[in-house]
Amino acid sequence: MANKIAVEKAKSSKIEDVDFDNLSFGSVYSDHMLVCDYKDGEWKSPKVVPYQPITLDPSAKIFHYGQSIFEGMKAYKDENGKVWLFRPLENFKRLNKSAQRLAIPEIPESYFMDGLNTLIQLESDWIPQNPGSSLYIRPFVFASGNGFHASPADEYKFIIACAPSGAYFSGKVKVLIEETYSRAANGGVGYAKAGGNYAGQFYPTQLAAEKGYQQVIWTDDNTHEFIEEAGAMNVFVRINDTLMTAPTSDRILDGITRKSILDIAKDEGIETEVRKISVHELVEAAENGSLKEMFGAGTAAVVSPISGFGYHGKDYDLPDLEESYASLLKQRITDIQYNRAEDKFGWRHQVI
Ligand SMILES: Cc1ncc(COP(=O)(O)O)c(C=O)c1O
Repeated sequence: MANKIAVEKAKSSKIEDVDFDNLSFGSVYSDHMLVCDYKDGEWKSPKVVPYQPITLDPSAKIFHYGQSIFEGMKAYKDENGKVWLFRPLENFKRLNKSAQRLAIPEIPESYFMDGLNTLIQLESDWIPQNPGSSLYIRPFVFASGNGFHASPADEYKFIIACAPSGAYFSGKVKVLIEETYSRAANGGVGYAKAGGNYAGQFYPTQLAAEKGYQQVIWTDDNTHEFIEEAGAMNVFVRINDTLMTAPTSDRILDGITRKSILDIAKDEGIETEVRKISVHELVEAAENGSLKEMFGAGTAAVVSPISGFGYHGKDYDLPDLEESYASLLKQRITDIQYNRAEDKFGWRHQVI
């Protein structure tokens, strides 16, 4: 049986102040959040409370040792007002995988799932219905316990906050294949959604932006010869008619969009390969015209097409296809997410 989650309602709603026709991504927050505290060796009962600032001691370990993990997911409202999540258990499992790696106590499944359902039911008016819009959901956990000693904290906070967000139209992006910096290393935390992974990406991404590239393609830390991720997304490449992506490892985030796209592509009869993809192979394919598409895949943008890449001081352009895998796969996955198509994989989770 589902846990009953205590709810303290906000005295008034901010919803009237929100321009739902002009939402950017993740910058307006709904009225409530889920909060759950870890103290005295256990996660206490989660509760939904009004969205509010958090007070922390300057010695809280999050500030010093970066024990911080998060997830990103979305709630979708269909034409009939029904509310859906997409593979939420996958986010729950990945949060705990991240927790384990960062020595953060794992969250009980019922706290995550029942807390999420209660919160999203309460915030359902905050789910925009404009095409491509959704309620972005940010579960996160951080060390709230105090102490300058470099060791895991004895107190943590698990919070789920929500941000109504418009479609994430970034347009096509030009990317730089990274030859110097790495986002992850063997034995490191690349497979976890640890806050520090993203902090480490900002500087190389700024350098790439100064050269006119919007995103970085991360390569393996050892040789920089194999492509691994596209910014904060998994990366797909189409050579001739084969769709490929790098295998997950301890350097690559096991993206939920990535694995869903692989299943959908197979279902569409598209040949797929999960294997190491070398930069050499990409350059050669770009030069002989067999490189048809590249795109990033992740919850926020779903699919983010790439217009070309820079490598070793040279730019390589990709063709502008009328019928791309990127647009076909984006359509198929969003049709499932928004309950516009049959859910043959059993990925949708109904909230209301
Ligand atoms: C580094 C990284 N890779 C890939 C992804 C895509 O994962 P998902 O499809 O589960 O959102 C994300 C975003 O969550 C990410 O941060």
